[in-house]
Amino acid sequence: MKANNQHYNISKDYSRKRMHQSNTNEIRAKQSNADNIAVTTENLQEQRKNLPIYYGRKELIKAVMHNDTVILMSETGSGKTTQLPQYLLESQMARFGMIVCTQPRRVAAITVADRVAKEKNTLLGDLVGYTVRFEDVTSPKTLLKYVTDGMLLRESLLDSLLTKYSIIILDEAHERSIHTDVLFGIVKHAQLKRKEKNMNKLKIVIMSATLQADNFVKYFTGAHVCYVEGRRHPIKIFYTEEIQKDYLHASLVSAIQIHKENPLGEDILVFLTGQEEIEMLTNLIKEIGMFLPESFGKILVCPLFASLPNNEQIKAFTNPPLGYRKIIISTNIAETSVTIPGIKHVVDCGMVKAKTHNPTTGLEVLKVQPISKAQARQRSGRAGRECAGICYRLYPEKTFEALDDYTVPEIKRCNLRGVLLQLLALGLKDVLKFDFMDSPPQCAIEYALNQLVMLGAVESINAQKITEKGKTMCAFPLDPPLAACILSAHEYGCTEELITIVALMTVESIFYIPPNQRERSKKVLAKFTSTEGDHISMLLFFRAYKQAKGNIQWCVEHFVNIKAIKNVLQIRHQLRDLSLRLNLSIKSCGADYNSVRKALSSGLFMNSAERQIDGTYLTLLQKQTVSIHPSSVLFNSKPALVIFSEVVHTSKRYMRGLSIVDPSWLIKTGLFDANKLIPNAIQTFF
Ligand code: CDP
Ligand code: MG
Repeated sequence: MKANNQHYNISKDYSRKRMHQSNTNEIRAKQSNADNIAVTTENLQEQRKNLPIYYGRKELIKAVMHNDTVILMSETGSGKTTQLPQYLLESQMARFGMIVCTQPRRVAAITVADRVAKEKNTLLGDLVGYTVRFEDVTSPKTLLKYVTDGMLLRESLLDSLLTKYSIIILDEAHERSIHTDVLFGIVKHAQLKRKEKNMNKLKIVIMSATLQADNFVKYFTGAHVCYVEGRRHPIKIFYTEEIQKDYLHASLVSAIQIHKENPLGEDILVFLTGQEEIEMLTNLIKEIGMFLPESFGKILVCPLFASLPNNEQIKAFTNPPLGYRKIIISTNIAETSVTIPGIKHVVDCGMVKAKTHNPTTGLEVLKVQPISKAQARQRSGRAGRECAGICYRLYPEKTFEALDDYTVPEIKRCNLRGVLLQLLALGLKDVLKFDFMDSPPQCAIEYALNQLVMLGAVESINAQKITEKGKTMCAFPLDPPLAACILSAHEYGCTEELITIVALMTVESIFYIPPNQRERSKKVLAKFTSTEGDHISMLLFFRAYKQAKGNIQWCVEHFVNIKAIKNVLQIRHQLRDLSLRLNLSIKSCGADYNSVRKALSSGLFMNSAERQIDGTYLTLLQKQTVSIHPSSVLFNSKPALVIFSEVVHTSKRYMRGLSIVDPSWLIKTGLFDANKLIPNAIQTFF
């Protein structure tokens, strides 16, 4: 990121003047629309009536009344998520059970529930509520509940027929998130079983923002398909002439330039890939904003990403104060799952951060990669919601042409161990026979089963029987290896430490380090560095934070991202409650960090790597070359044998979150047959 000298001197390379407009006017106007109206209780009802879906409401209610399964297609912003559940609620269809609407993302579930509660003029958690991982805002009065798809899948573990629901709405189906894909099978099965058993009827609604129904129609045979025409305004698409080496810099330049050249009232939405980038750009824009002449108006920057606390996220959805322009910097959550009013300019970096699991290499890699054409269209579509808009694609047109048409469903590219364990906990006899809309590759299923066997969660690949340990692991809303770490921490007497480490692992970073403070931060944070690795270092830092009682001054001095650490505290609290409920007493091992690393290695042993002569590492399981991430405290010491939390791919494959482990611990986990496969590192130890 070349951030030093651009406050006034914005490089012309990336300027809009060097972008050219696409010849294809991708999106045509269909209908005009009123201006952006402020959200107040008085005009909410008016706004509801203005949404495209409003005109089809009677048809939609009838469709759900007369069909077991309805597929509703309509583009983002039409009113699917906020309105359809309300129509069904208002038409008394929740008489025999609640209405639940799933979202692949927690932000969407929370913001939409909040919006709908306002539209219904009730407190959030009364008639309308939400449940997401580690947070439940519902009450016995709740009749309409927004949940993450992962939460509904969890609920199905306790009640596979999902009997408390009369209508299940699977929203954002086009995203094909792994949990939604599994839910397709679960709800289809529940609907059939409830019919066979003469129980209360289950209605299923599938909602999608793309107009491709084929998959869904084929899978939900006999489903009734409804289309609601959205409201689109013309969107000009600009491409850059050249490929941008640094899209963060390009985004910064574009956002500032748009701000300088356009009247207030035209807000900007910038798509980036993750928390770190978003926070960096947020701060850069804030800094630059302070130096810009008042005549351009002030800038209100709103970051938006999944792990951002709720009250911060809400800011992106409210109108800016008078005299301000809102610049929202978001991950792909703003693509379809949330609609932000007032956006006229979209800046699209063309990239997305996604996890890809390759069963051949055994690595699940978090990588910034190009989006699909469908995603690029969704992103540009965010500009034309209320009036004609402009989208600046920070890549050349020929790059766009070369993108994949659609994003590959997550189930085909993710590690399946979490969902397979849940399916087995549901009582499925053979996961290979599960009714998947798109089956994952068989080798990926076998790979995941093998991992579950190694974790002691499943008896054997052939028997596919979940063990008692597997059932307990399932109770944690965590990836099975992390749940295994907590269970094993109980044996080693360090649950206190492990729940802290696992909670810390759920956020991208608890630090915010401005680019010009990198060196200083290293010095400040050095005192928490443990030679045993990153996990213990994080633990030491957390303990220091607790000792400082979260003092603001201390946090500022230590580069703490207060929002992120509050999130960690909340998750930690939940994990603690859950452990106690499962009779896992909370014990601390004090300074016996060996126990902590032992517990970590009994869950993460599949992520282990051994140093090679050339200083790189080879993973023990699938023999893949990886390196230590420069941010790791072990970067210079290069120990012989390590476990790691994750692999990120930038210029090469880096292990992130490392701990040194003793080879004897890995033999105990059953990964090695000590006689047959003794890695070099172990030989040198013995
Ligand atoms: O689901 P779909 O994309 O079809 O639309 P929606 O999420 O129901 O949103 C319909 C409209 O409600 C949006 O265009 C916004 O104007 C408004 N809305 C809002 O202002 N705040 C929210 N948190 C959600 C929706
Ligand atoms: Mg929606």
